[in-house]
Amino acid sequence: MSGRRWAEVDRYIENKLLGDDPVLKAALADNEAGGLPAIDVSAVQGRFLHLLALAGRATRILEVGTLGGYSTIELARGLVEGGRVVTLELDPHHAEVARANIARAGLAERVDIRVGRAADTLAAMISAGEGPFDLIFIEADKPGNATYFAHALDLARPGTVIIVDNVVREGGVLDGENDDPAIRGTRALFDMLAAEPRVSATALQTVGAKKWDGFVMAVVR
Ligand code: SAH
Ligand code: DHB
Ligand code: MG
Repeated sequence: MSGRRWAEVDRYIENKLLGDDPVLKAALADNEAGGLPAIDVSAVQGRFLHLLALAGRATRILEVGTLGGYSTIELARGLVEGGRVVTLELDPHHAEVARANIARAGLAERVDIRVGRAADTLAAMISAGEGPFDLIFIEADKPGNATYFAHALDLARPGTVIIVDNVVREGGVLDGENDDPAIRGTRALFDMLAAEPRVSATALQTVGAKKWDGFVMAVVR
């Protein structure tokens, strides 16, 4: 199996099940025009996040790592009427591109973008007594993952679903000797999960348009 074949199967699934989505297409085009890196979730992964929101009848969703708002749009589309997504982004330019993409999607009212270091924003949210969130999607800098997960637990309730993306990275997670901060951060997350009695967790490997990767899914007990 090759990466090209994985991408072809993703395209097949997109054509069959996702259909044409001018709003998401325009978001990706404006991300590119704005010089943002093409590290959004894939179309089928975005739809999966949407389905998690729908299945959980989510009214409060927290996202860590907005980029241009591609995943934010899919999450917000899955909200129950009157629900809200809070999404955290470090880079003001990313946030600005996201704001426009989200407005074009007709979702400006349902999305609250907060600019700053996610660790600081999350700490402030906990102090302010925000939450609990029904669904939490973590996809920012990988060295921050353990910190973000710990904060996510403080913003959760029993039954909250927490997803952490990009935890496999072409198998890089296996390399315990590697001093790449992203790999160390991912392994620190797994160590934390292994010792955390408040959640049940697994990780699923994925292949597709975004190559070989995977995500952690944890449910708060
Ligand atoms: N969820 C997005 C992709 C996120 S890419 C999507 O699928 O569409 C990761 C994002 O995290 C980038 O925009 C990056 O600027 C942001 N980021 C990196 N470090 C961060 C930090 N410390 N706090 C908040 N956001 C951060
Ligand atoms: C990076 C981040 C991502 O979320 C991703 O899917 C791919 C790459 C990165 O920071 O390099
Ligand atoms: Mg990613």
